[in-house]
Amino acid sequence: MNFTVFDTPNAAEIYAAELIAAQVQLQPESVIGWATGGTMLGLYDALRRMDVSFKQTRGFNLDEYVGLGPDHPQSYHHYMRNHFFDHIDIAADHIHLPSGLGNPQESAAQYERLLAQYGPIDLQLLGIGQNGHIGFNEPGAAFDGGTQVTALSDTTIAANSRFFDDKTQVPKDAVTMGIGAILKARKIVLLACGSVKADAVKAMAEGPIGRFCPASSLRGHPNVAVVLDQAAAAHLSL
Ligand code: F6R
Repeated sequence: MNFTVFDTPNAAEIYAAELIAAQVQLQPESVIGWATGGTMLGLYDALRRMDVSFKQTRGFNLDEYVGLGPDHPQSYHHYMRNHFFDHIDIAADHIHLPSGLGNPQESAAQYERLLAQYGPIDLQLLGIGQNGHIGFNEPGAAFDGGTQVTALSDTTIAANSRFFDDKTQVPKDAVTMGIGAILKARKIVLLACGSVKADAVKAMAEGPIGRFCPASSLRGHPNVAVVLDQAAAAHLSL
């Protein structure tokens, strides 16, 4: 793992955006794995201001909540359109997210087929959960798992309730790309900011490797850029 630590979240977001921009400029037909969540808002804001064409790229998002349709304001379909896709020139038929509607097992199987058709991902963007999750692969997820339906942990439901009216509105399940597909990506960029992520970053980077910390699986990958602000890096013995 390669660590770069910045004084501010904004500087970290801009640097991570630059890594993605460089990938797309070098290889315009890149397959990019996109992430959502609060951490990525500044990154998308920076990336859409950069002079980069995404016309030939193909995008696979990590996850979607089960039960939320694409127009639900808290769905990740909506998030991506609102914060990024509506502002760039990516082709509509090159945008892929797991469906939150219909049978979730079928949605997972269909996504897995698409990944097999267009993958592997050239650059996978990741955030990290306070419990060490990547995508919605919660503690206990297999390191070689494919796209699957997952029950969100209490920690994740509590953390994500800030985006909903209250905790009861947060879906209990999600369809997520598996750790197996994430590890197949040629390059991974993980962005984490804030003191709330410091323990998870420490566990990912310096704790034991195992299913109890899904992000620890990334230590088996040869090309991971970890981009942090000082608060998220605070517990590392770098
Ligand atoms: C989002 C995702 C999650 C988030 C993580 C951190 O697509 O897969 O792993 O990256 O939950 O979320 P925030 O940035 O809201 O703290």
